[in-house]
Amino acid sequence: MSYSIPAEKISEIKHSADILEIISDAVVLKKAGRNFLGLCPFHSEKTPSFTVSQDKQMFYCFGCGEGGNVFTFVMKQEGIAFPEAVRFLAKRYGVVIVDHTSSPALKNQINERDILFQINRQAMEFFHHTLLDPQTGTSALSYLTRRGMPPRILTDFKLGYAQPGWNQLTNYFSGKSVALALVEKAGLISRRQSGSGYYDRFRDRIIFPIFNTHQQVAGFGGRVLDDSSPKYLNSPETSLYSKSRSLYGLFQAKPFCRQTGEVFIAEGYMDLLSLHLHGIQNSVATLGTAMTEEHIRLLKGVCQKITLVYDSDQAGIKAAQRCIELFRAYHQPEDIRILVLPEGHDPDTYLQQFGLEAFKNAANEASGVFSFLMDVAIKKHGLSLEGKLRVIHEMEGPLSTLTDGLTRIAAIKEIAEKTGIDESAIQEKLRENSPSRPLRAKPAEKAPDAGNKFEKHLIAMMLQFPEIIPVLIEKNLIEFISDPLLKSTGSDILACYRDLDNAPEQINDLPSIVLMAANNDEKKRLVAAFSIQKEEWGLEGCRKLIEQIERNQKRDNLRLLRQRMKTAEESGEQELLQQLTKECLDGQVSAGGR
Ligand code: CTP
Ligand code: MN
Repeated sequence: MSYSIPAEKISEIKHSADILEIISDAVVLKKAGRNFLGLCPFHSEKTPSFTVSQDKQMFYCFGCGEGGNVFTFVMKQEGIAFPEAVRFLAKRYGVVIVDHTSSPALKNQINERDILFQINRQAMEFFHHTLLDPQTGTSALSYLTRRGMPPRILTDFKLGYAQPGWNQLTNYFSGKSVALALVEKAGLISRRQSGSGYYDRFRDRIIFPIFNTHQQVAGFGGRVLDDSSPKYLNSPETSLYSKSRSLYGLFQAKPFCRQTGEVFIAEGYMDLLSLHLHGIQNSVATLGTAMTEEHIRLLKGVCQKITLVYDSDQAGIKAAQRCIELFRAYHQPEDIRILVLPEGHDPDTYLQQFGLEAFKNAANEASGVFSFLMDVAIKKHGLSLEGKLRVIHEMEGPLSTLTDGLTRIAAIKEIAEKTGIDESAIQEKLRENSPSRPLRAKPAEKAPDAGNKFEKHLIAMMLQFPEIIPVLIEKNLIEFISDPLLKSTGSDILACYRDLDNAPEQINDLPSIVLMAANNDEKKRLVAAFSIQKEEWGLEGCRKLIEQIERNQKRDNLRLLRQRMKTAEESGEQELLQQLTKECLDGQVSAGGR
């Protein structure tokens, strides 16, 4: 049997599979802070120390040291080799792997998908050129300019224009001898009701291409240039595009979300472009639909904090109520905030009229879902005694989703403050209805033993905050790591990081890529443990650690130099002694000069 599964397939499976889902089949997991915790399936224990990180898509047992990614887990759990684990997951997530054993029909199906993506890409280029060509694009261009969109946005988002008329795109593709039946399958043209032939779906509209996270063109949105209706027309649901599974702008936003740890979710195409234009590049849009579980899954592992931006109270309330349920699998309730803009504004009009600072201020004041719902409840029921009891009753549902003790206490405090009812009375009332308490166990954290503390921190930092790697390269810090395992892991990380050149947006996946590249179990465990460990790296922390390591390395170097000087002095090697003395002085000068 052939084992060569293409790398893109492995990557596709990795992105479709959810480690939490897979492990949950075998282990009962409870949320504990950012991670999930359960009893290790690989050794016997009474206190849970088996940790699963959903954002890192990794697991690590602080008890026995077993760790890895979704593939490693399936291999261990099912007792199978890597290629079988890949096939196991492919089957489960409906990813089709084609090899010489596949039927011709299956091969065709895969081929067709690739062709449809190519057709979409060609259509995108066609629309884009039509927009930028003064012969064809003037009206659309001036519409976009009127709406404040500069050339940069047009190129970054590959906006386009579909001219009026029924067969611009149809002619373009038939001129290129592309089978029109395939263009129809891509959702770009439709078959004429009477007579033969096809007509264009998008006519006289601004075109917004919608990318999937693999940078493929999945579909399009089109907006009229005036008040006619429908205002927006989207690609039909095709094998490539589904509205409930697309977040507009996610491909472009991903690295920024990762950098800031936060994402803004708006509703419309123009909202998203305005957010980007004003420098809020960690934004995506749901394109008019409510948030779905698939949307949340798309954001999994990208960032933890979410701010939903809504045009009106009513939409905000609906969303808040939905998302408390929707998000609970992956997010802490306190990480989700609702920003409701003043009546009559959407993010686009708000930013264009009031600017970035005003938006940022509003965003800073956005309420958490919990506070938001409480304010809504108070508005609805008032603060009579009867009203207060209703408010507390209404908050029971949202409260029960708070599994973290501290968050719960804070929430109860907030209810107490806002209703003026005693905390203990609220506790009492809640206890009547909540029989079980969430599992909260904290295992003694045991990281693999290797190397000195700073060197370990250094490797952990590279995995948890890869943005810092260029600095480490510049300072050549990895070269001087003394522990062999840590050093070799460090070089692996650098190599994988350099391989990301063509796909910098995958920086998010670095820990997992390093893990897959690691050539022995000890290293794999180390990578899993360091990636999962609870540490929050910010720039400041990184800078301090780097300084400390540089100081240590200098100190060690000096110590070594002095030893060599002593030997040189004892054996009377004057020339060497002089040279070493100079090196030593240089070292001290630069060590003291910072
Ligand atoms: N939408 C849609 N079809 C429509 C109307 C809206 O798919 N007929 C989606 C679009 O993705 C749109 C979003 O819902 O961006 C929000 O709709 P709306 O608020 O009406 O439009 P805006 O985004 O404000 O559009 P514009 O600023 O261009 O008027
Ligand atoms: Mn708008």
